[in-house]
Amino acid sequence: MSRCTINAIFNEVKKYKKEFFLGQLIAIASTILISITPLFIPVLVDELLLGHEPILTGFISKNVLSMSPMGYIFAILFLLMLLRIFASLLSVLQTRIFSIISKDITYKLRIKLLEHLKRVTLKEYENFSVGEITSKLVTDCESVDDFIGSTTSKLIVAVLTLIFSTIILLWINWQLALFILITNPVVVFFTAKISRNIGKLKKDTNKSVATFQSNASETLELFHQIKATNKEDYFFNKTTQSAKELRNFAVKFNYKSDMAMKWSSLLFLNGYEIFRAAGLLAVMYSDLSVGLMLAIFSYLWIMAGPTQDIINFQYSLASAKASCERINEILSLEQEELVANGTNPFFNKESIGIELKNITFSYKSGKKILKHINMKFIKGEHIAIVGASGSGKTTLANLMVGFYMPDGGEIFYDGVESKNIALFTIRENIHLILQQPKLFNDTIRFNLTLGESFSEDQIENAIELAQLGDVVGALDDGLQTKLGRDGIRLSGGQRQRVAMARMILHDPKVVILDESTSALDTHTEIRLFHDLKRFLEGKTVITIAHRLSTIQNADMIFVLENGELVDSGTPQEMLAKENSYFANMK
Ligand SMILES: Nc1ncnc2c1ncn2[C@@H]1O[C@H](COP(=O)(O)OP(=O)(O)O)[C@@H](O)[C@H]1O
Ligand SMILES: [Mg+2]
Repeated sequence: MSRCTINAIFNEVKKYKKEFFLGQLIAIASTILISITPLFIPVLVDELLLGHEPILTGFISKNVLSMSPMGYIFAILFLLMLLRIFASLLSVLQTRIFSIISKDITYKLRIKLLEHLKRVTLKEYENFSVGEITSKLVTDCESVDDFIGSTTSKLIVAVLTLIFSTIILLWINWQLALFILITNPVVVFFTAKISRNIGKLKKDTNKSVATFQSNASETLELFHQIKATNKEDYFFNKTTQSAKELRNFAVKFNYKSDMAMKWSSLLFLNGYEIFRAAGLLAVMYSDLSVGLMLAIFSYLWIMAGPTQDIINFQYSLASAKASCERINEILSLEQEELVANGTNPFFNKESIGIELKNITFSYKSGKKILKHINMKFIKGEHIAIVGASGSGKTTLANLMVGFYMPDGGEIFYDGVESKNIALFTIRENIHLILQQPKLFNDTIRFNLTLGESFSEDQIENAIELAQLGDVVGALDDGLQTKLGRDGIRLSGGQRQRVAMARMILHDPKVVILDESTSALDTHTEIRLFHDLKRFLEGKTVITIAHRLSTIQNADMIFVLENGELVDSGTPQEMLAKENSYFANMK
């Protein structure tokens, strides 16, 4: 399904034709078993107690065996119990079949949402809250699941039961049956009206679940920071506040939807009372027998369940519609362009040159962050980008690996325009290390290999070059040590070295280091770059740095200021020009 709608859901259900029809068949069989049971006792009342013409008992004595009245009662009792057991078994089987259908469709829906999320642009990602998205993946998908489950398993059977019971009622006493036939739609009509309001309440409730979830997860994610700034009360109160709102909406939804259902039931039950009175009157003033009157009462009860199911269907439909709308908000998040059959400018090359032509960029806020940037990085050269904090260096690095798309201008990779290259290819060959690298809550080994297979030698070499040997050696479980959420068990500098080792292991063709050694002491940093020298040789390396020592060996230096390229040249040229930013670096 491209969007989540009720139609799309039914189209999905259609794909389960075999299961669906088998399920319906079983459901109908069990319903018929249940629906004929009320006929037996009343017939016995008429035939055994009131001395009417023996139709059922006559049939049994002629075809099976003749019994005493007591014998008939026990025989029918036994038969009824058997019927009920059989009907229960069938209904278990039926639930199993319909569960498979609904859970399978919900699973596919979740997969679809995850697949969509996988390719959502960073620009969109930054605008949504993780809690809100998870609540859609959990709560709203659950509502859709409920809807599919109850609708597929109950709706058809409910309608059939009503039709079946009505036919029997028509046969027993058509006047009464007609009366019931006219009143039932009235109930359904009224409940349809009420259910629309319930849908809106459901939407509000799910929205407040989302808010609560997003506040709770933010609070928990920033736990450390919150404690450090003594802001427990502020953040937890905010979460408590949203829990309170959730409660209020949920109370409203629960009692209002319950009220609506009760009101619908009330209509039905009062109808039932009226029918009962009408039944008594029919016995008094027409030839309706007492036994058949009891049978009619039973059928009214049999019809109660399906009527309730049809009423519930409308509420469940309203909820599912509301949830679909919320789910569609995920499906309408902007995605990264998929470049099919893109060229691979990196193929068979040691490294490549990159050219930025007239690049302009702004985040959602609209303020221009990069203005008409022109830069040319020659293949195999080591380039430095410097500039004050906030001048746009990180943004530029993000653009080069396709995390964001420029608003204007083009990036060329070895002469190929970025729009002709799959993002996957770019990110596989250009490795960006951030100042605060993100680590996974897994072992060091996983954080280095990311699940790919490398030889122990390769891993060891990467660890050594990244100056990580002592760190790993000091850990109790060595490479198998779990790092905790976001690598919390490592210091900032250690995390940077893990990121560096990960890069070395994956051996990219272009390396971008965004202040990625900022947390190392000068001594370690110098050793790191000394050891990396051979590894980085021949690769295009773009270093964004603060320290002069990190960049003085660069082939080219670019200076950014407020999103503009204000100067560039070799270190010697820069020194000669006395560029103010460069001159002030230490
Ligand atoms: N994700 C973002 N959303 C909105 N604005 C951002 C985002 N990231 C950075 N900025 C803004 O862009 C400007 C440049 O930031 P950045 O590229 O990180 O600078 P630098 O790395 O040179 O310190 C800053 O003014 C910053 O506030
Ligand atoms: Mg930065």
